[in-house]
Amino acid sequence: MRKKIVAGNWKMNKTVEEAVALVEGLKLELADVVGVEAVVCPPFTALKTVSDLIADTEIKLGCQNMSDQDDGAYTGEVSHTMLKELFVKYVILGHSERREYYGETDAIVNSKVKKALSKNLRPIVCVGEKLEDREGGNTEKVVEEQVRGSLADITAEQFEDVVVAYEPVWAIGTGKTATAEQAQEVHAFIRGIVADMVGQEAADGLRIQYGGSMKPANAPELLSQPDIDGGLIGGAALEAQSFAGIVKAGM
Ligand code: G3H
Repeated sequence: MRKKIVAGNWKMNKTVEEAVALVEGLKLELADVVGVEAVVCPPFTALKTVSDLIADTEIKLGCQNMSDQDDGAYTGEVSHTMLKELFVKYVILGHSERREYYGETDAIVNSKVKKALSKNLRPIVCVGEKLEDREGGNTEKVVEEQVRGSLADITAEQFEDVVVAYEPVWAIGTGKTATAEQAQEVHAFIRGIVADMVGQEAADGLRIQYGGSMKPANAPELLSQPDIDGGLIGGAALEAQSFAGIVKAGM
């Protein structure tokens, strides 16, 4: 039985003051949630504040990127040590916006995933096809390449700490959600690839989130699919009630 995991990716939103207001709201809204892991991923600048605010709750802390280096002359980067000091548990890696705007390749993502796992941080590894891939019938090819590349050399045991997020790029921030059937099909496909990579047992234990215009209204159907184990939420995570609505849909 895989425990559902719903993570809010705040992206480049929320000042510290705004983050405090959102987290105070989430603490109230999520107080009675059981059986679903709720994760918030604020920008780096709000991590310390949010970490302190959720310390006495079940809400977990995540972040949106991490360096694959330990320390040193890497201007603008943030290390695993810095994140762990703030009690960060999850790290979103290879988000399509990082792939698209900052040139992150599967090899770079893989290097970060390995670093995170070696330091007991849990990567949320994002994959997903663009509109032209889907229209050209290349969804499976593109997703398979990203899964195999981003998760290369990860052992079956290490997979216990991995979360994969399937985010069709055409559904991100567009209001266009993949249908539950479209999403389920790709999730099952991803699980099959992982089974081929590290075995059925590890694949069966892997949590695969859906991301792309997920909202309280469409969450129940998506989250009731057999291979959809949670959500990676962008826009709807910026408001306490809507994020909590999605988390509760997973209960
Ligand atoms: O990381 C989250 C995804 O990019 C989804 O964003 O819910 O705004 O479509 P969205």
